Amino acid sequence: MKGIILAGGAGSRLFPLTLVASKQLQPVYDKPMVYYPLTTLIEGGIRELCLISTPQDLPRFRQLLGDGSAWGLSIDYREQAKPEGIAQAFLIAESFIGKDAVTLILGDNVFYGGDGFYKAFADFKGGATIFGYHVNDPERYGVVEFDGEGQAISIEEKPKQPKSNYAVPGLYIYDNSVVTITRNLKPSARGELEITDVNVEYMRRRQLHVHRLSRGFAWLDAGTSSSLHEASAYVQTIEKRAGIKIGCPEEAAFRRGFLSLDRLDALTTKIPKCEYREYLIEVVAEARRLSR
Ligand code: DAU
Repeated sequence: MKGIILAGGAGSRLFPLTLVASKQLQPVYDKPMVYYPLTTLIEGGIRELCLISTPQDLPRFRQLLGDGSAWGLSIDYREQAKPEGIAQAFLIAESFIGKDAVTLILGDNVFYGGDGFYKAFADFKGGATIFGYHVNDPERYGVVEFDGEGQAISIEEKPKQPKSNYAVPGLYIYDNSVVTITRNLKPSARGELEITDVNVEYMRRRQLHVHRLSRGFAWLDAGTSSSLHEASAYVQTIEKRAGIKIGCPEEAAFRRGFLSLDRLDALTTKIPKCEYREYLIEVVAEARRLSR
């Protein structure tokens, strides 16, 4: 399974924050936003990644994440010259995807919680797996409607009159036919290759699986000033209360077995003195205690 992080777009809803740094590089509490979707993919067991962003912002992402080898990953980069739709990611990254299945995550989506969430990656066999999450304001999202048996029967992009309160979060798992499906899509009225149209096509083929996320699960998007602030407040609350970090790629890579304890230890010593370093020192110490 390959992984794509889509981190382009103009970020106009966050102006003036995004005048000099893209949205996905803004802080969500104590880390750059892109750390959260990156960590989600690592936790899902994906180590071959491709980050797509604008030609202006791509150098900054390279500076931040490098080729991923320090974390036991490989990270490729591709440019999206213009924001012509989320699904365009599959055409831009076609050579990266090759013959594999692929998970796409939006660079401004934060996921937190156990639930069968990660099992959905492990259980993926083919077709498409997307998620449904109960929200207050479904009209802002792709909206999925279920029948009495829990089967998805419609998906609409930002409907004025939503048929349910279930929004489709920005994480999509597809088999390799997503590339052909996207190639055959027509741009929508707003001139974009819509991810919802990809999902509708999988539904038409009866190959769409929608996993409803439970009430205990948190999905936040950080695309506006208010939602960015709320995401930061949420992360701070959980981190302070539980003494753990959300969106820590080093820790996730270690727990997934992509990084040995010795490599994590060596990497930690290179981090300047700060809370992030203190946290990782504790992760290393605890793992050493447990392995004795
Ligand atoms: O957050 C989940 C929602 O994301 C889904 O429920 C919707 O079905 C889906 O269309 C999308 O809605 P948004 O209104 O959030 O899409 P937006 O255009 O804001 O793009 C989402 C992110 O993807 C944003 O961080 C910018 C990036 N993006 C978007 C487009 C259209 C790109 O990098 N390139 C693009 O061409």
